Amino acid sequence: MKYKDPNLSVEERVEDLLARMALEEKIAQCMQIYIPPENREEILARIRAVGLGSRILSDEQLAGSVSTRTASIADLNEVQRVAMEESRLGIPILSGTDVIHGQHTIFPIPLAMAAAFDPAAVEEACAMAAAETASMGIHWTFAPMMDIARDPRWGRIIEGFGEDPFLGSKMAAAAVRGFQGELDDKGYIRPGRVLACAKHYIGYGAAEGGRDYNTGEITDHTLRNIYLPPFKAAVKAGVGTVMSAFHDLNGEPASGSRYLLTDILKEELGFKGLVISDWSAVSELINHRVAADEHEAARQAFDAGVDMEMISECYNRHLAGLVQAGVISQERLDDAVRRVLSVKFRLGLFEHPYAGKDGQMEQLLLESHRAASRRLAARSMVLLKNDGLLPLKPDTGRIAVIGPYANERRSLLGSWVNDHLVDQPQTLVEAVRAAFPEAQILTARSGLYDEMLMAAAAADVVVLALGESHARNGEYNCVASIELPAGQQALVDAVAGLGKPVAAVVYTGRPAALTRVVSHVNALLLAWHPGSLGAEATADVLFGAVNPGGKLPVSFPRSEGQIPVHYNHNSTGRFNPRYLDMPVTPLFPFGFGLSYTSFAIDGLDVQPQAVEPGGKVRVTVTVTNTGTREGEEVVQCYVQDCVSRRTRPVRELKGFERLALQPGESRRVTFELGMDELGYYGPGGKWVLEPGDFKVWVGSSSEASLEGRFRVIG
Ligand code: BGC
Repeated sequence: MKYKDPNLSVEERVEDLLARMALEEKIAQCMQIYIPPENREEILARIRAVGLGSRILSDEQLAGSVSTRTASIADLNEVQRVAMEESRLGIPILSGTDVIHGQHTIFPIPLAMAAAFDPAAVEEACAMAAAETASMGIHWTFAPMMDIARDPRWGRIIEGFGEDPFLGSKMAAAAVRGFQGELDDKGYIRPGRVLACAKHYIGYGAAEGGRDYNTGEITDHTLRNIYLPPFKAAVKAGVGTVMSAFHDLNGEPASGSRYLLTDILKEELGFKGLVISDWSAVSELINHRVAADEHEAARQAFDAGVDMEMISECYNRHLAGLVQAGVISQERLDDAVRRVLSVKFRLGLFEHPYAGKDGQMEQLLLESHRAASRRLAARSMVLLKNDGLLPLKPDTGRIAVIGPYANERRSLLGSWVNDHLVDQPQTLVEAVRAAFPEAQILTARSGLYDEMLMAAAAADVVVLALGESHARNGEYNCVASIELPAGQQALVDAVAGLGKPVAAVVYTGRPAALTRVVSHVNALLLAWHPGSLGAEATADVLFGAVNPGGKLPVSFPRSEGQIPVHYNHNSTGRFNPRYLDMPVTPLFPFGFGLSYTSFAIDGLDVQPQAVEPGGKVRVTVTVTNTGTREGEEVVQCYVQDCVSRRTRPVRELKGFERLALQPGESRRVTFELGMDELGYYGPGGKWVLEPGDFKVWVGSSSEASLEGRFRVIG
């Protein structure tokens, strides 16, 4: 049959297949369901009769927060065989699941990945996760999540790349490239890669009160300038699918919004791939009370631009009637089916529908994946304070490694992990002991405060492992207080009271209010939830095998009273909006992070001083390692459009580069600023570059003070 001929183009194959399909077969392609073992036979009969678009492998709607079942290769192949051999047209089924920060080898949580300010490392991690996922017969991951987040109470802040649209865009594009790889010359995804999904479109991180699934209100200006850029970058990077979010945005649920899904995503951004709803987001239009029943929910979501429905079955039950009645046009149905089929052809599924067992274990147990995970974990860690205590020397004397996270395993992996698939990582105590068998390491059972204090009292130096459990963040796990969980501050106070030097390590998925911790300790290392090799990576940094170079991808507030606090706030008219009882600046700003060495950034040169629209400005600085050991600095370039027709951020990140320098070594670094960096979505939602003056700052955080200027000529 023509569509089975791999020598034809994807477009020709899609058109040929589409022309052969009956209405019910088309609608079946617009469905993604879970196949519970108890209903397997019934679903297989359905597949024989009409086929199936996709199966989701997690059986739990809070897949990231709980342990879920998954399908074996044998089961995937058997269900696929039924679709291929026993359904009329033999259309393969797409299998999808959430591989957010690793499949078997777990990498640091995405927020931590962003802290490495190293898109190539993120691309590598996602490529490795893709190889592991593909080896299990899974074709599609619901990642990367690219929701801008300004509220650390929101548990899903861990899953994205932080508060900044520029950093978020670089990370989103890198993750898409990692998962999907370079397409081959026919536009096919190569073996060993998986289809990516940009989510949750859009504004999902703006949930009121930081409570997951809550309503968001964002002006069109903010939506386009702050929340849209990572999605735009993902589309440009060729992302195959986009997920429509659960929440209500500006009075319209995102999964029922034609404006968001069709006008902006498909038409304005030119997204040609497939839009899938989030889990039951189509039937949830009824809960939002914009649809009276499933029939109306199906109409709204399909009409809005959701091509495939996840889990709920509104399309399955009502689309046929809606098309027959002419409420949904045949063109719209064909458009959705084309998008689904194109993705299947591009994945090479018609040629290779089955998962091979060969090579699976090899992929899952690759030492190179573990090494990359350890490297990225260490690169993502952010040194927030150091009075010279770190790095520790193994012969320091007696080192107490204590605290609620000193003997913890599971939490180090982070939220989105299929528990049963991964090895439990080492604890920090084990990792330190393994790395320095000759060192004198004291410890105590976590949770027994008296024992912990006795160990600290007997030590020369204390490493205090603090943080929050993986179960306290992620989907639907939001908090009203961002202080460390109960009891930890008291422990910090008590340990500090012993007068010993203290290095605190914080394992967290979200910014925590560390105001009191920081004043009680000599050093503070933010280790995030660092993944499979997180304990080893922590030891690498604590003892100096790795010099920390990560930077904050999100501001760390002094307290939740400051939320939202982000560096790229707009200019205001009158004074500096303030609190009477607290400074307005965060405890640690976006882009901040220390090193065991020191750097100087100077020699700013801006060329040309005046540029035509369409030209480029080159901003160059000299970065010098002025300390005594090699280290890495993330040089950051910020811009301000001095006068514009809409109020604009006081400064915006527009370039960064992570450099490794030997002691005494200098390097010139150049940032190029063009239309993409200097323009913005202005009046009427149109992209504009307004003539006039611009300021530029280069430095080591969002507080960079080395300043230059240039002018865009009208
Ligand atoms: C989450 C998505 C996830 C989906 C499938 C939903 O609850 O919001 O991020 O991809 O479940 O597991």
